[in-house]
Amino acid sequence: MRILSIETSCDETALAVVEATGGLSAPKFKILSNLVSSQIELHRPFGGVVPNIAKREHLINLPILFDEIKKTLGKKLPDIVAVTVGPGLEPALWTGVGFSKEVRKNSFPKAELIGVNHMEGHLYSFLLANKDKNQQFSISGLKSIFPAIAVVVSGGHTMLLRVDSLSKWKKLGETRDDAVGEAFDKVARMLGFQYPGGPEIEKHAKLGNSKAIEFPRPLMHSKDYDFSFSGLKTSVLYYLRDHKDANINDVAASFQTAAVETLAKKAERAAQEFGAKSILLSGGVAANSALRGVLSNKAKELKIKFFAPSFEYNTDNAAMIGVAGYMSHLRKKNRRISANANISL
Ligand code: KG4
Ligand code: ZN
Repeated sequence: MRILSIETSCDETALAVVEATGGLSAPKFKILSNLVSSQIELHRPFGGVVPNIAKREHLINLPILFDEIKKTLGKKLPDIVAVTVGPGLEPALWTGVGFSKEVRKNSFPKAELIGVNHMEGHLYSFLLANKDKNQQFSISGLKSIFPAIAVVVSGGHTMLLRVDSLSKWKKLGETRDDAVGEAFDKVARMLGFQYPGGPEIEKHAKLGNSKAIEFPRPLMHSKDYDFSFSGLKTSVLYYLRDHKDANINDVAASFQTAAVETLAKKAERAAQEFGAKSILLSGGVAANSALRGVLSNKAKELKIKFFAPSFEYNTDNAAMIGVAGYMSHLRKKNRRISANANISL
């Protein structure tokens, strides 16, 4: 099936064309086009995303990207139009939802319109980890990777899930305060780095000593699977207040290690408790190579598999919305085509 997907939940306007086959037992994906128009430069002076600027930019970018993507579609029209309906910034979400309805009505009246949960997009994006020589993504022996422990980490969410199949999962825990990506962004701001902070922290951490400062690992040893990153962020703030001559690379490295270790410890414990056959990592923070490295080593130690999406499918993109749209179609799960800023997984 051919899927046109649309993502506007935050500050990336994204459109993709995904060719999906194989059903729930052995899905395969070819990403024919994956366009992302980032608004980072516009939000940067504000140190974060401004919802009304995001909305305005999505409205400008959507028709431009659509004209571009029509070249990929050619004469073969999409069977499905998939659009992110939430969670995200409500004004931003509405632009994609409105555009999807318009496009379906005017250009692809026969297509099925599917509302996608953005977090399902991140969750399913592990299916975009391995590409064969025909440029097709698939996981061989898919059944054998379940149960899996999924670590879904973005700017708005931090979750640990037990995934039993492509249509069944259970949330084990989540953050009680800041999302891990949010903590990266806020600490980066304290260090005087640009928005978004994650990539900047990673860059500086490579130059620093991760053992230089012993930051706390909140809830790391708690019995549940919840996280808390606000205390860690605050201890960086106090450290910087008390050490005017702090080495920012050491701070970045020590903070990153504290965050990564906390995530990895709980993922490891969950993998052991549930006899997981694999660890799945996704969401914007999954672009962090230290986190990828530590989790893939944990998986190796546990003699289980590790999957994380190819680099371009970690931070927000529409290809993952196409993948989740295909899954929703197969599972006959269609959400209302209406923006809902607060839907959960
Ligand atoms: O998934 P995403 O693009 O948007 C949301 O759904 O929130 O995630 C964005 C988050 C931001 O907080 C950004 O700082 C973080 O992902 N991020 C990173 C890296 N690249 C992006 N965090 C740590 N290391 C990175 N390399
Ligand atoms: Zn996201």
